[in-house]
Amino acid sequence: MSHNTFGHLFRCTTFGESHGPAIGVVIDGCPPGLEIDAAEIKLQLDRRATGKSRHTSQRREKDDVQILSGVFEGRTSGTPIALVIENTDAKSKDYGKIKDQFRPGHADFTYWKKYGLRDYRGGGRASARETAMRVAAGAIARKWLNVNHGIEIQGWLAQLGPIRTDETIHWESIDDNPFFCPDPAKVPQLESFMDALRKSGDSVGARVNVVARNVPAGLGAPIYGKLDADLASAMMGINAAKGVEIGAGFNSVEQNGTQHRDEMTKEGFLSNHAGGILGGISSGQDVFVSTAFKPTSSLRIPCRGLDTDGNEVQVITTGRHDPCVGIRATPIVEAMLALVLIDHVLRHRAQNG
Ligand SMILES: Cc1cc2nc3c(=O)[nH]c(=O)nc-3n(C[C@H](O)[C@H](O)[C@H](O)COP(=O)(O)O)c2cc1C
Repeated sequence: MSHNTFGHLFRCTTFGESHGPAIGVVIDGCPPGLEIDAAEIKLQLDRRATGKSRHTSQRREKDDVQILSGVFEGRTSGTPIALVIENTDAKSKDYGKIKDQFRPGHADFTYWKKYGLRDYRGGGRASARETAMRVAAGAIARKWLNVNHGIEIQGWLAQLGPIRTDETIHWESIDDNPFFCPDPAKVPQLESFMDALRKSGDSVGARVNVVARNVPAGLGAPIYGKLDADLASAMMGINAAKGVEIGAGFNSVEQNGTQHRDEMTKEGFLSNHAGGILGGISSGQDVFVSTAFKPTSSLRIPCRGLDTDGNEVQVITTGRHDPCVGIRATPIVEAMLALVLIDHVLRHRAQNG
């Protein structure tokens, strides 16, 4: 039984655990002829990496990606692409204390219930370390989408705890700060908020938005292949994701129909509350997705939990953690959007030529 593969025609299978020797992805179905090398994939991996600022986990993984197959003389060959990254900075001793404990907010309890055992080191397979491989595969997907369809994908931090960060958007500034914040004026506020939060030992949630531009109309299919349903599934599959909105999302609840429907003129749609998707099929408008991330569960502030024998215990989580996981999520949501879109482009081409 496999649940580590996603996509129909651009199929990714990831493997590996946080503290195992390596993590990897096998991509089957990538069209041939795309120029790609490890350095280009690494650019995206570096955007997701830990240890880039004091506001994220201080684990320092080099994330040097090796292309083991599927790329010949600098171009994809149409055969399976295997990518591997060695785990070089895992400190498993940090996790010895929680070997027999279930950390609240983590997958410890549910993995134990499901499998009867768990790799407790760094969360094992439940660790967001796995998302590095989605970002690696996404780097190939987004390049193919851009070269072949001019599709551009951009994510940003829209909110961190109580701080809204995208009331003003400077697209060119998003990558200039460690938060992927589109408003440079908000960065000092984010920094002092995060400094105080780290000192307190607590964590906070965040909202991350992403848009794809130049998406052709026609991607997605009724009824069980809807583009929005696949996007929701892809984003919810990211660690710590707790909510996904497409277009106006939950704001639709308060809207009237006259406000929500996107009127059409010869010049185009007059608004985009649909988020670029109607009936599960892309309309040619920007595809817009918003994802809510919960606060980090690993905290040095003690809390009540259970051990594997069912006893109540005090749980304190040490180790190197992200005080706000949403800060590093922007490249991941971009990658998931790219992976869903390339799969739908290939599916559309397969059916409609
Ligand atoms: C980029 C990223 C980094 C994360 N880093 C941490 C972390 O340092 N500590 C932690 O407790 N959880 C972290 N998480 C979240 C956990 O992986 C996740 O909450 C846990 O596996 C339980 O799964 P669930 O929250 O999806 O239910 C991170 C998530 C993401 C997306």
